[in-house]
Amino acid sequence: MDIRSLGYVGVEGPNPKDWLSFATRICGLMPAPLVPGEDPSATRSEDGMSSDGSVYLKMDPRQWRLAAHPAETGGLRYLGFELAGRGAFEKALDEARQQGLTVTPGTPEECMARGVHRMAHFADPAGHRIELFISATADSPFESPTGVSSFLTGSLGMGHIGLLVPDLEAGLNFYLDILGFEESDYFEIGPGMAMHFLRCNARHHSLAIGRVGDFKALHHLMLEVPNIDEVGQIHDRATAASIPISTQIGRHANDRMISFYMKSPFGFDIEIGCEGLLVGEDWVSQKLIRPDVWGHAGLTAEVGGAD
Ligand SMILES: [Fe+2]
Repeated sequence: MDIRSLGYVGVEGPNPKDWLSFATRICGLMPAPLVPGEDPSATRSEDGMSSDGSVYLKMDPRQWRLAAHPAETGGLRYLGFELAGRGAFEKALDEARQQGLTVTPGTPEECMARGVHRMAHFADPAGHRIELFISATADSPFESPTGVSSFLTGSLGMGHIGLLVPDLEAGLNFYLDILGFEESDYFEIGPGMAMHFLRCNARHHSLAIGRVGDFKALHHLMLEVPNIDEVGQIHDRATAASIPISTQIGRHANDRMISFYMKSPFGFDIEIGCEGLLVGEDWVSQKLIRPDVWGHAGLTAEVGGAD
């Protein structure tokens, strides 16, 4: 199937309201002025929050890109992958059914809650909810409350996500053979442990999927800003606010990203980076030995946001 990008991500955990200050004051995202499904003429007490306590965050002209929903424990609620239009959407659903997946069309209420024209969902082998969608809502320009000039989104999608799964082979079969991702490269971490980096557009990877044990977890979500100064300014704000920095700044060997990782309110990491590699049709998969060109002290496959 012809997935174009990672369009949106929904995470969950206790006190989603904590994301309002973390995502806006530290990372520079914008509270969604209009929450999906909300009446534009209604009076709201707090930007970015819906009546069920979810927080919606904006990174670009799209109505929202990241949502934090209330739940008892922290983790991933859904990944939204974008297709170009109706034909590609119908073809993708046919392919998913032919591969034996149980495909559930999104109800009109669910599509409204995502701000998309159409959506359908199924589960990946680890049980993550995967949503395919078309025609997301674009409402107003992005204006960061903390001076981030922009996030690199558009045809590259909102960033990348790192998932740990108990059955890596099943995960790779699913994302490569059914969803149509291409592998950019991979590392072997140890016996039965590896990380594979998969792309669906020019961004080196939109999905990192790996195995370090018999569990599944959301390891991190990466958001990309235009330059090292904006990475450093977010790092300054995180440090000033005593946000735990889980991985010091460094440059990855594979996607060349200069980045650092910090703990989000739901326990998993947010990676903030710049200079991510774009790859073309001539790219071939590689096996890598060194994960980093320099830095990234503290980076491990340990996670705080099991889902
Ligand atoms: Fe990453």
